[in-house]
Amino acid sequence: GGVSRYFYCTYRPTAVFLSKCWMRGCSFCLEMTTGNLEKQLVSLEMGKIFVEGVGEVQEYVDVCDYAVGLSRMIGGPILPSERPGHALIEQWNPVGLVGVITAFNFPVAVYGWNSAIAMICGNACLWKGAPTTSLVSVAVTRIIAKVLEDNKLPGAICSLVCGGADIGTAMARDERMDLLSFTGSTKVGKQVALMVQERFGRSLLELGGNNAIIVFEDADLNLVIPSALFASVGTAGQRCTTARRLFLHESIHDEVVAKLAKAYAQVRIGDPWDSDTLYGPLHTKEAVKMFLDAVEQAKQQGGSVVCGGKVINRPGNYVEPTIVTGLPHNAPIVHTETFAPILYVLKFKSHVTCMQLSQCFRKPKGSDCGIVNVNIPTSGAEIGGAFGGEKHTGGGRESGSDSWKLYMRRSTCTINYSKDLPLAQGIKFQ
Ligand code: UN1
Repeated sequence: GGVSRYFYCTYRPTAVFLSKCWMRGCSFCLEMTTGNLEKQLVSLEMGKIFVEGVGEVQEYVDVCDYAVGLSRMIGGPILPSERPGHALIEQWNPVGLVGVITAFNFPVAVYGWNSAIAMICGNACLWKGAPTTSLVSVAVTRIIAKVLEDNKLPGAICSLVCGGADIGTAMARDERMDLLSFTGSTKVGKQVALMVQERFGRSLLELGGNNAIIVFEDADLNLVIPSALFASVGTAGQRCTTARRLFLHESIHDEVVAKLAKAYAQVRIGDPWDSDTLYGPLHTKEAVKMFLDAVEQAKQQGGSVVCGGKVINRPGNYVEPTIVTGLPHNAPIVHTETFAPILYVLKFKSHVTCMQLSQCFRKPKGSDCGIVNVNIPTSGAEIGGAFGGEKHTGGGRESGSDSWKLYMRRSTCTINYSKDLPLAQGIKFQ
């Protein structure tokens, strides 16, 4: 709880906020409410549109708010002991140093989830952001360091290193990294997991996804079209939560494809800083190449490009948001996560109705996805829930719910407050 109170912040207009903040204008709040710098940097370096950059900063503020409350709720159970005069207590302790490696696509929020929870658990952090978003990493670290130092704590509680795979490898191998939280591709995540496991360290992995939306015949298309649009085109398809597969019941397939293609055509493409823009560039030239390769493979495997598929002729890494139909669900490209705005539409026949609540509630049990949504997009998770996915997504959980447990180690303490020494299981050793 020591550190946490310095992060009591909510993103409100300054005047309202200052009258409510019990710290009377802590520097974190002031920076977040008056300074736009880090939000502009997100668009400048990452390329996402301004409102999504603001959303990311909001996500960081939200998780700080959440973490402050959580800091008062971390407890361990007191369990009945089988031995008279004994107490059995679970004590949660900080792990020590939490290494955080984040990806380019959420250069603020993902570090926010990790650092806020890690700190209220009593840990220090060492952060390596993506090599292509170093300015954002520096800006965020400077804000945190100032808040810490203004409150007479060492800024180094949240330290930063900038670098590439060499630094990431050093962090994964270093025994001093008590927990290594890694967000990135499944391929690199696997290497990280093996390196950390080799030294019996602890890792928390947030890796790739290949998210699907399933639309049954009775779904409300007024919800389906905007959900699928935001999920597939938002952040130019560069979220781990981006929808990449859209399963449509055959009875509504053509109608949904036509409506979605119309919605795609209306997406305002432009400068990410322009408040009117909904869709900006891809992050790198390499991403453009991956996009083109995937479109080519989709065509070779039998897909038809309904809209998009090409590079946009303007400066920057702009590509057209793309819909591909006609592929079988098991086409190799459909099973590949390409970090670009390509949506594969797949047709299915089974006659199931989903709007019945009983059907909806069966979904979490039937699916082994970490995030199961009904009647909303795949992306845009709230911070209050545990965020993460199973299998090749890495199995880690960050942000809300009981994710904090991953940032702590548990001691099961048995305390004998009697004058006798009874042994467990009734063993007599005399
Ligand atoms: C990511 O894409 O790595 O649910 C994180 C979402 C965001 C976070 C995504 N809250 O889309």
